[in-house]
Amino acid sequence: MKKLQNKHIVLAITGGIAAYKSADLVRRLQDAGASVRVVMTEAATGFVTPLTFQALAGQPVLVDENTSAANGMTHIELARWADLVLVAPATADFIARLIHGRADDLVAALCLATSAPVAVAPAMNQQMWENPATQANIRLLDQRGIHRFGPAQGSQACGETGFGRMLEPLDLVEQCTTLFDTGLLQGVSVLITAGPTQEPIDPVRVITNLSSGKMGYAVAQAALDAGASVTLVSGPTCLTPPQRAKVIPVQTAQQMYDAVHEKLDNTDIFIGVAAVSDYRVAQPADAKIKKDADELSLVLVKNPDILASVAASDPRPFCVGFAAETDHLEGYAREKLEQKRLDMIAANMVGNGQGIGADDNALLLLTPRSKVELTRAAKSQLARQFIEHVAKHYLEQKNPA
Ligand code: C5P
Repeated sequence: MKKLQNKHIVLAITGGIAAYKSADLVRRLQDAGASVRVVMTEAATGFVTPLTFQALAGQPVLVDENTSAANGMTHIELARWADLVLVAPATADFIARLIHGRADDLVAALCLATSAPVAVAPAMNQQMWENPATQANIRLLDQRGIHRFGPAQGSQACGETGFGRMLEPLDLVEQCTTLFDTGLLQGVSVLITAGPTQEPIDPVRVITNLSSGKMGYAVAQAALDAGASVTLVSGPTCLTPPQRAKVIPVQTAQQMYDAVHEKLDNTDIFIGVAAVSDYRVAQPADAKIKKDADELSLVLVKNPDILASVAASDPRPFCVGFAAETDHLEGYAREKLEQKRLDMIAANMVGNGQGIGADDNALLLLTPRSKVELTRAAKSQLARQFIEHVAKHYLEQKNPA
């Protein structure tokens, strides 16, 4: 299993001699399974050319705001795409500007604009590192939850010896891996439904919906990263399932229901992300229906509500549902939370390009006694935050104070 499989890492390079190591870092991150996009400050381009990174990452490199349109992704899009922004090397000057919330270059603006974790790998002369101003800035970094990888001690490019060397690329990959492995759900088994269902009309036609499965798969990945063992009962999607997830492919709602109930005994947390078809055709035709008739009626019957049935089982796992709504988001979601007797519901607006099929989303998390808004972000990032909340509430319920 590749340690950074499916992770989107924006590697931001600022102007220090250690930038030459970042070329190797791109390769090592890719070897670990990450997708890497590179952004550089103007100063960094004086040490290594953007072309080097473009060739290694296989993607255009963003250097400043003016180049963003030509390169396809603006800093805001990159900020949303990222699961992690890694600034390596991070110079003393960059760290000072980061601390002051400056947005006067692309890398600083990106760090402000992202809701993904930001990690810096300091690299500077040892005197600069020891300087009280730098040390005060580093303390602020730590207080603000900005991750810091290194620096290491040793001989430096300037000929001096001490703290200030950037960590080696493989050490940085290791630190990124540790950052993603939260361990919050270690030893917990999580059952997730994802994607659409397909209800046959005849042997070649189905009733389905626009669900892509992206959110469910991202939730499965986030649960795996948190140390859970994950079973993913998936309707038909075009996605590659996360490695380490046990995948049970299904087509219809009834098959999804059966697969879920088969697994229920060994489940601690159930998360229903699938867009389950509410109805199925009462009697699918055995042969392809011909288009002779001017009108055609299909009799539909209701499918079982998988989530409600899991929540009604005894004993039952911690139950989390999703509610996709076009209006009255909180009201409808709270109704579902109560009617289905859930422990938590994640509500999101759909329609007008939002939610279904998109790469990003925003969620309103409701429990019987709490409400949290997760602002718009890439589904992978959102899934990570979502799983942190699920873990918190699950553990509180399991081990009441
Ligand atoms: O009631 P509504 O369909 O809006 O509820 C959505 C939630 O219920 C989602 O978590 C979805 O996975 C789940 N659901 C289900 N079985 C159904 C319909 C919805 O598990 N038949």
